[in-house]
Amino acid sequence: MATALQDTQSAAARSLGHVALHYQTPEQGPLAARLLTMLGFVETQDLTLPDGAHFYRFVVDPRHQGRGDGIIYLSVVPEAQRKLVAAVRDALKIGTADEHPAVGEMRGHLARDPEYSFHIGTLLESLEELEERFLALEEANRSDPELKGRLKITYNRALKSDPEIEARLNASPIYGKVDRFAYGRNGVQAFVETDILASGTLGESTFLEFDYVFPDRQSHVLSIVEWA
Ligand SMILES: [Fe+2]
Repeated sequence: MATALQDTQSAAARSLGHVALHYQTPEQGPLAARLLTMLGFVETQDLTLPDGAHFYRFVVDPRHQGRGDGIIYLSVVPEAQRKLVAAVRDALKIGTADEHPAVGEMRGHLARDPEYSFHIGTLLESLEELEERFLALEEANRSDPELKGRLKITYNRALKSDPEIEARLNASPIYGKVDRFAYGRNGVQAFVETDILASGTLGESTFLEFDYVFPDRQSHVLSIVEWA
């Protein structure tokens, strides 16, 4: 019986089901939802809770609309979590002359590498879509009344290995001048950090990663990590 169960388990597929993201304050719900839409996620539900805050369900693309995977739930930071984070920040004296040195050390690492701590990666199968969406984010960060200055964008090129890829990236409107590199070949990364969403030890922001892998490469940044 145990053997049969194991066989069933090994034959059945599984996938990454959902992540739960949180926006910082109740009034920022619609803005957080708009940002996720700009990033290409598809809103399938906007539920107004008794306290007036919005609870959203997004899917990574429309094919996940009725499925149990590929989901992003988006809601406001829960009250007890908000209190806990406030207490942590108070204890560490964040923003004062006596700020605990571990805070600056952590922030420095996150500033240099958006993958240093918790983040969420989404794979796109169109480099053109990734470029268009991030050009729009750059513009929003410059001029959108609600998003201006709230998006920190970082790009990583593929490790140099393939002349065809190098030529494509040199011609890219977002990767052409980039001199940062992913931990691998044949794929690129784009990151946006925003303080509209809360996560991480200090609850200050969330890092979202978007990846593209060039087709027909067996070895790429998401299949084999390389330490350059
Ligand atoms: Fe990552």
